[in-house]
This record gives sequence, C-alpha cells and structure tokens, in this order.
Amino acid sequence: MTQGGVEGAMTRAKEGAMTGTMAIAAHLFSVPAYEQEAQAVLPPAIWAYLSGGAMSETTLGANRESWERLQLVPRRLQALTGGHTRLELWGKTYEHPIWLAPVAHQQLFHAEAELASAQGAGATQTPMLVSSFANRRLEDIAAHSSAPLWFQLYWQGSRAASLALIRRAESAGYQAIVLTVDAPHMGIRDRERASGFQLAADCLAVNLEYSPIRPVPEPGRHPLFDGLFALAPVWEDVVWLKSQTSLPVVLKGILHPADAQQAVQLGVDGLIVSNHGGRVMDGCITPMDALPALRAVTPELYPLFLDSGIRRGSEVVKALALGATAVMVGRPYVYGLAVAGALGVAHVVQLLREELEVTMGQCGCASLQAVRQLTVLD
Ligand SMILES: Cc1cc2nc3c(=O)[nH]c(=O)nc-3n(C[C@H](O)[C@H](O)[C@H](O)COP(=O)(O)O)c2cc1C
Repeated sequence: MTQGGVEGAMTRAKEGAMTGTMAIAAHLFSVPAYEQEAQAVLPPAIWAYLSGGAMSETTLGANRESWERLQLVPRRLQALTGGHTRLELWGKTYEHPIWLAPVAHQQLFHAEAELASAQGAGATQTPMLVSSFANRRLEDIAAHSSAPLWFQLYWQGSRAASLALIRRAESAGYQAIVLTVDAPHMGIRDRERASGFQLAADCLAVNLEYSPIRPVPEPGRHPLFDGLFALAPVWEDVVWLKSQTSLPVVLKGILHPADAQQAVQLGVDGLIVSNHGGRVMDGCITPMDALPALRAVTPELYPLFLDSGIRRGSEVVKALALGATAVMVGRPYVYGLAVAGALGVAHVVQLLREELEVTMGQCGCASLQAVRQLTVLD
C-alpha cells in the first residue's frame, strides 16, 4: 500500500465511507478493541511475545492501574476556539504528542513489518522510533515514510559497532538517536516461555551486521556479570555518544531522579521515562509514579517523554498534566499493524488522537500548554 493509499483510506474512514477490503471494521473503535482483534488474528506464541511482561507481570499490570487510578480535575467555561495539539521541540513542530515507541521484529505481526508502521506514521504525521531489531533496513524504512524517524540504538557491545549504526541512521535522515538503557538483559517472560515462542528463521535483525560477540569470562569469573552484562553501556559511553553525533541524544528507560540529573549534566537532550512496557523487570516503578520526581529535578521544558501502559487519549492528557512532553505507545500501534497493516497503525493513532482532543476540550484545554496546568490527583 502506498502512503497516499493510507492517507486516502484514512480520509474515507473519517468520512464514514469505507467499503470493501480497505474498510476498518466498525467494532474497531478503540485500542482495547484492537487489542482483542489482534489476539484473535495472531498465533498464540506471537501474542505471548507481544503482550507478555516480565516474570509475574506485576509491573505490566501496575502500568495500566497507574493510568486508571489518576483523576483529572477539569476546568470549565474556557474558550476552546483555535485549539490544537501541536508541540515544539528542538526547532521543529510536531502535530500531536502520541508517538510510536520502538518495537522489535515487526515482521512477526505483518508481512510489511516496519515499512507498514512507518507508512501509518507518515499518514498521521507521527514520529516513529525504529528499533535496532527492525526486520527492514533503516534506509528502506526512511524511504517509505514521510514521518519523522528516530533511531533506537541497542548498544552493540562496542563503540565501533554502535557508531556504524549511528552513521547509517544519520545518512538515512533519522532525526535523533535514542539509546535504550533499561535492558542489559532481556526480561524473563514466563508467558512467552510457556508459549514456546521462537523467532522464525527469516525474522532477521537485518541492520545488525556486527552481532555482538558474547564475551566468554575467564574461569572463575561470573558468566552473567562478566559475560552479557559486560556488554551493556555505562555513563562514559553516553559521554562518548554525545561527542560522536550532532543529532539529539535521548536515553530510554530512565526512572531514577539521580540518573535524570546526571543525564542533564552530561548534555543528554531528552529522556524517555519508561519501564519498557513491563517487559524487562518485574517489581519496577511505573513511569507514572516516577515522572513527577524526574520533572522536579530537570530544567523547565526539558524533554521528558513517557511510555508504558497508555491505552487511551484521556491517559495521554494525564501524562502531559503530570509533566510529560509527549507520550509513546508500543503495543497499541502493533495491534493496529497486526489487524490492518499501515491502515491499522494510522487508525490507532487517529483513535487515540481523537480521544486526546475530546478529553482536552472536556478539561477546558485548547493547547498542550493548558493541559500542563491541569490538576491531576493520584
Ligand atoms: C514486542 C515488543 C518489542 C519491543 N522492542 C523494543 C526494542 O527493540 N527497543 C526498545 O527500546 N524498546 C522495545 N520495546 C518497548 C517499547 O519501546 C515501549 O517501551 C513499550 O512497548 C511501551 O509500553 P506499551 O507497550 O504498554 O505502550 C518493545 C515492546 C514490545 C511490546
């Protein structure tokens, strides 16, 4: 499907004139509805990979509960004419604050993989973060989309291998480098293990020409701490990374105020407050609970993005009222991808955006600046 095709389909969907194969079924009116449909169309093991969380899934559940328990205190009788959802960041204007988080191996969910997501993102003017574990080449994804793209870097175990990826992202026009720092080891996901999930042989991380060599520790050294953990980045690598690129550098997975302060001191351009959607560590603080303390120790208007557990436009309002600059969603757009490819991705963004705008109006907010002044009670 061309991008124009997605845009045209979205326009017809908005006009309620969808027919034939491009129609979006009428029952797909929310992210929870897409979630149900995605579960129905995906094989059980792939569903377990997508929806599962770490260990007992306490954090997975806490992410949802945190957004559900917050309460907005709406203002009344505010003029809403001329309202919008735009935000300014690093000299650019973005149409709305609901962005696509990096999600690995999208070929599991749709044959067109990241190309379809990037098309859906382009059709809705939505920034998309492209995972190091994408199944399509960074250059091809960029060529398929008018969306602003950011490159999500998993540290490649060495500066040289990491730099090779950064240079490719720069050349392909990616607009920021996002270093994920919360996964020195992948999560232990019981549900995924029980399902027998395994990556298919043709589901390749095609951008990773240098697969990190797992160090074999000397006899007597620890297999994990001196093994895989030795490949994880440390603060000195962040300093180095900043020195290597003129693109904004963002750290994904920061939750402790002291880490946020250190990042600001080192000149890091923004943070994604995230627990990886509850996939990596169980018993982890939720981004909602972490955000106020991070906002308190970072400069006013410092970019603090947030993801994990957001399923409703009203929850985007809550996150922004708590101090987030913009939010990212992971699983929600993948539900759209699994159900209807690029069109599904675009539709999920559209649904969330509609919920955001309606909730803004109901709260008396005609701009994201006004949302940031709202009272939100825990
Ligand atoms: C299937 C799956 C794969 C993911 N792959 C990555 C990845 O490659 N890199 C990364 O930084 N985060 C990855 N994430 C985490 C997301 O970027 C994001 O933090 C998370 O999905 C947000 O929570 P949500 O799914 O509740 O919106 C992945 C998440 C899912 C569900």
